[in-house]
Amino acid sequence: MTVKEQILSLLGSNKGGYISGEEIAGQLSVTRSAVWKAIKSLQTDGYSIQAVTNKGYSLSPLTDILSAGAISKHLNLQGQQLRLEVYKTIPSTNEAVKILAANGEAEGKVILSEEQTAGRGRNGRPFFSPRGTGIYMSILLRPKLSAAESILLTTSAAAAVALAIESVSGKDTQIKWVNDVFMDDKKVCGILTEASMSLENGRLDYAVLGIGINVTLPAGGFPDGLGGIATSVFSESYYYDDLRCRLAAEVLNHFMEYYAHLTDRPFLSEYRRRILSLGKPVTVVKDNKQRGATAIDIDNDCRLKVRYENGDEEYLSSGEVSITI
Ligand code: BTN
Repeated sequence: MTVKEQILSLLGSNKGGYISGEEIAGQLSVTRSAVWKAIKSLQTDGYSIQAVTNKGYSLSPLTDILSAGAISKHLNLQGQQLRLEVYKTIPSTNEAVKILAANGEAEGKVILSEEQTAGRGRNGRPFFSPRGTGIYMSILLRPKLSAAESILLTTSAAAAVALAIESVSGKDTQIKWVNDVFMDDKKVCGILTEASMSLENGRLDYAVLGIGINVTLPAGGFPDGLGGIATSVFSESYYYDDLRCRLAAEVLNHFMEYYAHLTDRPFLSEYRRRILSLGKPVTVVKDNKQRGATAIDIDNDCRLKVRYENGDEEYLSSGEVSITI
């Protein structure tokens, strides 16, 4: 982290309170003039930082910035350890974590960013990741799972996001199989899990779980093409307090609780009861062919059971098919 980012994190975890330049300089092992320069630069970036003689610096309590300190305040991890790092901008948090994973980083690293300039979605699509209005977060995991079981990461994450959004906003969420979280029939969160297999034991070497949540409305709204299908948790375009930090922490709290016993499927009932399409007609898209069906159930492996118009039934796995509802 740069000095600026570290100062933001320090002030962010003590919003409204004052920290002296001397204390900041001491904690970060930099000079007071470096602190002063970084504060000036943060103010130029638009952060509301008060500087008061003999008291120090204070970040307005109304500022909602992602910071490791502010997120950690809301974490409740039952002994699990996460190492959070927050960027102001980054091409893709998934890409950053993948590079760390390939270089041997241990499980539990979490990278978040205020913005992504090359956010990645599923099937090679871009993920719209404007500055300051969303949560873009990737978690490095090294689970003892087979490739087939890796679906549990994505589906449990969808359930964790759904619960977290509901607890922070008080609003209902739904899940579009496999792992899109919806509110009011529009997508509010996308999840992309990228994994590497170990050839030695056929298990995952690592998985990068990437979660992107639209928290408030981007300035100017969603771009053409997304307007009709995407929404945000809150319809306002501003934040108050530490909303995104709380939401990010709640996602981590719920997900890590599930992750601790993942193969027992502790998330399955929360996942299943939010599935949008159960009992409804869907179009199954497989090998570029479309077929009408009714979605019937989600099985223990998070496969979607469908019944085709001729009465045939099939369990669909996420990799091979998609459905439209
Ligand atoms: C999708 O809906 O297609 C999946 C979107 C996943 C987006 C998240 S944002 C954080 C992480 N970094 C990325 O580049 N992508 C994921």
